[in-house]
Amino acid sequence: MVAGLLFYGGTLVLSGESELTASDFIGYLILFSQVLVPVKALGGAFSYIQRGLVAGERILKVVDTEPIIRDKPDAHVLPPFQHQIELRNLQFSYGDQPVLTDINLVIPKGKTVALVGPSGSGKSTLADLLPRFYDPTGGQILIDGHDVRDCTIHSVREQMGIVTQESILFNDTIFNNIRFNTEATEAQVIEAAKIANAHEFIQQTPEGYHTMIGDRGSRLSGGQRQRISIARAILRNPPILILDEATSALDTESEKLVQEALTRLMHSRTSLVIAHRLSTVQHADEIVVLQNGRIVERGTHDELLAQAGGLYQRLNSMQTNGMLV
Ligand SMILES: Nc1ncnc2c1ncn2[C@@H]1O[C@H](COP(=O)(O)OP(=O)(O)OP(=O)(O)O)[C@@H](O)[C@H]1O
Ligand SMILES: [Mg+2]
Repeated sequence: MVAGLLFYGGTLVLSGESELTASDFIGYLILFSQVLVPVKALGGAFSYIQRGLVAGERILKVVDTEPIIRDKPDAHVLPPFQHQIELRNLQFSYGDQPVLTDINLVIPKGKTVALVGPSGSGKSTLADLLPRFYDPTGGQILIDGHDVRDCTIHSVREQMGIVTQESILFNDTIFNNIRFNTEATEAQVIEAAKIANAHEFIQQTPEGYHTMIGDRGSRLSGGQRQRISIARAILRNPPILILDEATSALDTESEKLVQEALTRLMHSRTSLVIAHRLSTVQHADEIVVLQNGRIVERGTHDELLAQAGGLYQRLNSMQTNGMLV
């Protein structure tokens, strides 16, 4: 275009036929070159704006999603946990398919109740009902006699620490991931990490507590991620703990570290623990065996082992024979 302009304008000026003078033409060329860059940028900006609009639409769709679980208009704050959690005639189904039927269970304060059972029997679903990730379709969950559906979600979750196999971590520093949502000081964070057996590996990372851990903690190993989650739970110091499959994907060494951390975390707390490896729940005050969403057996480890032909006994013998470890 520029070559064309130069040629055409140049010819006009040189021939002297038109009224275009050399200075006008040069002025025009300078103006033209000045305008060219911003006009090009404007075109580029337009495509950015388009992309921004599309992305904005998608983000707003997520932001505007109405949560299914909401506070009732007259919801009250759940008072600090004192006596027991009771599941009374609990039923739950995802859509039509019933997943939990007639669950009656009491977890007294300070005790550990373990849930075991085959895959798909409804253990995680049951654990998800306590912090109100879902609400029961029948029956009640009572904490010290308060139906959790009548309490604010915030006040219910505030009293629970949840450690799952899929740790929920953010692309931020280790420090911020542990401190998440609390006003803890650096000393408190380090203290929690020590109890969670995480301090040592954190110190070996390039920037210690200020190392960025990547999306969902992708720069950490599974066991390291879990120990960060455990440190977070320790720091929040909740009276109720929910541990779902917390040690199933680990090698023996990191399982030992995580198990130690969990034992410290569970000390003098009220816990609901789900585990595939029965060895990790042997010391629970009560073990509840679920099958197809129903409680089929319950008791201590020794009581359950004594039940000849029971599901727990079968699961146990499969594991000790190394078939399901
Ligand atoms: N979000 C969901 N929507 C629909 N069905 C679901 C959903 N989550 C789980 N289910 C179904 O509910 C049943 C119980 O699942 P749940 O995750 O509670 O089992 P689980 O006992 O924790 O199993 P695992 O030991 O494998 O973790 C399964 O049949 C599963 O297919
Ligand atoms: Mg599960």
